[in-house]
Amino acid sequence: MTYQAANEAERTGGAEWVPWREAAERALYGPRGFYRRPEGPAGHFRTSVHASPLYAAAVARLLRETAEDLPAAVAEVALVDIGAGRGELLAGVLAALPDGFPVRAYAVERAARPAGLDPRIEWGERPPAGVSGLLFANEWLDNVPVDVAEVDDAGVPRYVLVRADGEERLGDPVAGADAAWLARWWPPAGPGTRAEIGRPRDAAWAAAVACLDVGLAVAVDYAHRAGDRPPFGTLTGFRGGREVRPVPDGGCDITAHVALDACAGPGAELVSQREALRRLGVFGARPPLALASTDPTAYVRALASAGEAAELTAPGGLGDFVWLLQPVPAR
Ligand SMILES: C[S@@+](CC[C@H](N)C(=O)[O-])C[C@H]1O[C@@H](n2cnc3c(N)ncnc32)[C@H](O)[C@@H]1O
Repeated sequence: MTYQAANEAERTGGAEWVPWREAAERALYGPRGFYRRPEGPAGHFRTSVHASPLYAAAVARLLRETAEDLPAAVAEVALVDIGAGRGELLAGVLAALPDGFPVRAYAVERAARPAGLDPRIEWGERPPAGVSGLLFANEWLDNVPVDVAEVDDAGVPRYVLVRADGEERLGDPVAGADAAWLARWWPPAGPGTRAEIGRPRDAAWAAAVACLDVGLAVAVDYAHRAGDRPPFGTLTGFRGGREVRPVPDGGCDITAHVALDACAGPGAELVSQREALRRLGVFGARPPLALASTDPTAYVRALASAGEAAELTAPGGLGDFVWLLQPVPAR
């Protein structure tokens, strides 16, 4: 075994204390990382993408609306899905678009291209450069690893260190750009309070948006805003559909809600998923009862669809997700 391999074995064996950002990076995207597993995210939790085809249909509508506002010289409309999972959203949007719509679909994903994916979908680890259209990122930013700060007994915010078995202890005081981010976006409160330092997410979002020459960039996630930050943070784990203790060993998802207001660039708007989907024609209203006697099949179909729309827009559930809508004017 080389020194490097021995060192890595020791690290992954849980012998080393590392800051959360480094631990989550390895646990999610390392060689045995959670997101490298064959079952993909859908094997462990349900996002809006999996909840209903209505979601992809709404994104298809947003793509068509975005296309209408593009300069006439744009002949091909890009649809870039960042954190594309197994390409489910792109496949759904392509199916929902009218025949002949001039779209080029790009999946940006750290996991490998799944077998059998629609060949029209391009797959890569980096966003394409200089494209025009819609960039969409559903539940991506919450999986961009961040450091965690905790205020010690003397009132000093310190990095939280973690071992691969999930045990934590406090490390150095938070300093430099991280301290400036906390002061601006999530000011430390009293001893014992915690905050996730969203700086890497701000940078990841800005870099993703930069791939558009013109169009609209949308990030959808669990979020909180200044004045409404959770005092003890939101870092948690998910495995097999259940919330679990966040243990950075590759066996569970590691996620934390996103400070989307900090990510937002100039001209951006933050709206609830309920409102964003309402604008795109997705409501949870039941079909009229009269339809049941005139066209029972259509009634049952409409009822199922209304149930799915209700799930996507439910208060206390997916409806509380936040959409960050960021227009990208022609550069
Ligand atoms: C919670 S899953 C969401 C999947 C899909 N968007 C959905 O809503 O069902 C997050 C995905 O983001 C991917 N991911 C995380 N960081 C990434 C990055 N920097 N570039 C590309 N994909 C990334 C992960 O591999 C994972 O598949």
